[in-house]
Amino acid sequence: MTANGNGGALSTSSAIVLAAGKGVRMKSSTPKVLHEICGRPMIWWVLRALREAGVSRAMLVTSTENDAAVRAIADTIPDVEFDTVVQAEQKGTGHAAQIALKELKPRDGTILIANGDMPVVDGPLFRSVIAACDTLTAVAMVTAKMPLPSNFGRVDRDGDLVTRIIEARDCDPEELAIDEMNAGIYAFDEGALRSVIGELRPENAQGEFYLTDTVGLLAERGDRVVPVLSDPQLVLGVNDRTELAKARAAINQRLCEHHMRGGVTIVDPARTYLEPDLTISSDVVIYPNTSIGGATLIARGTRIGPNCRIYAATIGESAQITESVVLDSTVGAHVVVGPFAHLRDGARLGADVQIGNFVEVKDSSLDAGVKARHLSYLGDAEIGENTNIGAGTITCNYDGERKHKTKIGKRVKIGSDTMLVAPVKVGDGALTGAGTVVTKDVEPGDRVVGSPAKSIKKTPQVSS
Ligand code: UD1
Ligand code: MG
Repeated sequence: MTANGNGGALSTSSAIVLAAGKGVRMKSSTPKVLHEICGRPMIWWVLRALREAGVSRAMLVTSTENDAAVRAIADTIPDVEFDTVVQAEQKGTGHAAQIALKELKPRDGTILIANGDMPVVDGPLFRSVIAACDTLTAVAMVTAKMPLPSNFGRVDRDGDLVTRIIEARDCDPEELAIDEMNAGIYAFDEGALRSVIGELRPENAQGEFYLTDTVGLLAERGDRVVPVLSDPQLVLGVNDRTELAKARAAINQRLCEHHMRGGVTIVDPARTYLEPDLTISSDVVIYPNTSIGGATLIARGTRIGPNCRIYAATIGESAQITESVVLDSTVGAHVVVGPFAHLRDGARLGADVQIGNFVEVKDSSLDAGVKARHLSYLGDAEIGENTNIGAGTITCNYDGERKHKTKIGKRVKIGSDTMLVAPVKVGDGALTGAGTVVTKDVEPGDRVVGSPAKSIKKTPQVSS
């Protein structure tokens, strides 16, 4: 029997994450654990779950190819002290664990070991397996019932205890029929693990050192191996692109459910794509085929979609955005955008602005009540309140070398098809006729037409 120093206490928990595998089945030049899921690399989700579980330090086993990237990802997770160790040659999960254990100072207590390719895992599952590794237990391991056929390792039991794990490729037909799988999450008594880790041999179908063989070695000598049965959805392993899609769908569903519980209507969660850093107020409605990412903030009562892409945006109350793209931009209350509009790179829309079809706004501020409802490009512009931008208006902001500003005052009427050749200013209350090419500043209240623009405002009569 093995004595466990801390009885599964969470405060002193440390962990090893195995993330060095090549991911051959992904058929990718990107290392497996760096593949993107809902706006984050796969491994980020696992590390975040460790933090949620209260793990205080973790050793990440990386490869030469992904070490720098994995370190950078770990740096974004607060509260957990991460170290990495490179496994230069991938000789199996047991070999990866050996390398990590060599780096860590031996200590009494529980050590969590988790595969890095199971992004759907959550903190409570990690906590429950750590808690199951009590003073009488050598290892607690997460298992799940899954439909057959499956590539997961099979869990061989004797009553309530596990006797060994058999990799699918090493199973005989009878073993292949077992439907309880090894999830790849283990809480070991560290002393017990260290006592058998040197005994692994690569005598199996893959010629690798299997971490899973430690279970059989411990059980054989009479130690307790306790299964912790989990929801199979939480332990989806990602080895190829079909499993990547399944894991993404599961995480996306979880993100959608979080916001729906917060009072957001999501018409079709399976066709709404969310990232983890969103703040969405209650009574927002999201229509299908919409993706929302970055640190986007959406105020109450707003309707978004269908067919929108929103990233790093701040959107005010009761706005309506339809079939449009909004990137790095701010949208005020009651604004209407779309269909088919593109706001990007610092577009700033005040309250009640209306942006219609085929209008692009880039790095420009449109004050309250501005309307640009058809076919325009507004770049590097400042537009005063209640100004109307006619169909086909273009700010000609680029002279081939540099970008220039267009400043349009309040209550201006810009006629259809006006070209504003920047740098240029149009004063408050001015008007441009259809097809005007504005190359010089227009005075407040003036009316200009033609190419180049000429004033047609009558000069006041001077009485004698
Ligand atoms: C592993 C388990 C299997 C389990 C499944 C759950 C072993 C031998 N098998 O199989 O029982 O059902 O996970 O998903 O452990 N890795 C390294 N270095 C290596 C090899 C792998 O760090 O040399 C890492 C991988 O990056 C991955 C994890 O270990 O994150 C698991 O490796 P993988 O090759 O995906 O194992 P599976 O075949 O999925
Ligand atoms: Mg795997």
